[in-house]
Amino acid sequence: MTIPTACHLLRESSPVVSVGILTADLLSLGSELSLLERSGVKVVHVDVMDGCFCPMMTVGPPFIKALKTSLLKDVHLMIDEPLNKVADYVAAGADIITIHPEACSHVHRVLQQLRMMKNANDPERGLVRGVGLNPGTPLEVLEPLLDELEMILILAVNPGWGGQKFIPSTKGRIEKARRIIAASGREIILAVDGGITRDNIADVAALGVDLIVTGSAVFDGKAAEANARFMLGEVRKAVGSRQ
Ligand code: DX5
Ligand code: ZN
Repeated sequence: MTIPTACHLLRESSPVVSVGILTADLLSLGSELSLLERSGVKVVHVDVMDGCFCPMMTVGPPFIKALKTSLLKDVHLMIDEPLNKVADYVAAGADIITIHPEACSHVHRVLQQLRMMKNANDPERGLVRGVGLNPGTPLEVLEPLLDELEMILILAVNPGWGGQKFIPSTKGRIEKARRIIAASGREIILAVDGGITRDNIADVAALGVDLIVTGSAVFDGKAAEANARFMLGEVRKAVGSRQ
């Protein structure tokens, strides 16, 4: 029996919702992850910030390793010069690993290096290599990288902290990214991250993305499980109305 790769799992359930965990109650990590699993969420998003590329500092490989879950681990590296750091995140169990060209002197080399690595959860599952782009970065940066990535992550906020507002020009950038992907003839996953809330998730899903990150909107406040179910429901409705 062939085991589906992480890429296949994401594509076949597109659009998937990837929930940011950092605004959860981190002292109750186990029950917060169970809550996501119970709600039907399939992917957990971890924002790694280093205090350099991003003003804030968050977590590192030991935290990724501490996530005991069946969810796919979507690791968003907002860190300077990840070349010599990605191996630790892969060893800690990242399934999706996204880097930023704005933070790399050798972005192509980091992607090549990731291609040689095995998924630590299950070598058959493969890794999804993502390239994240800040709102001010031209999408043309992607063109020389298209053969070395599986996912494009369009940031709808500037890297910094959770809970910022969705930048409206992101819509046009998503459309442009879709055209770049279509012209490449490759099955690249299109993802969007930042400022996605109960109020706009349906509109974002209708733009034809495959993966939608929602961070603080699920775990801020007291109704995380209801929020997660609501987000999944909104996405299902939006896709139903698109088809
Ligand atoms: C970048 C943001 C995103 C995060 C989105 O600064 O931290 O990477 O995943 O968080 P929310 O959904 O709270 O905007
Ligand atoms: Zn993120």
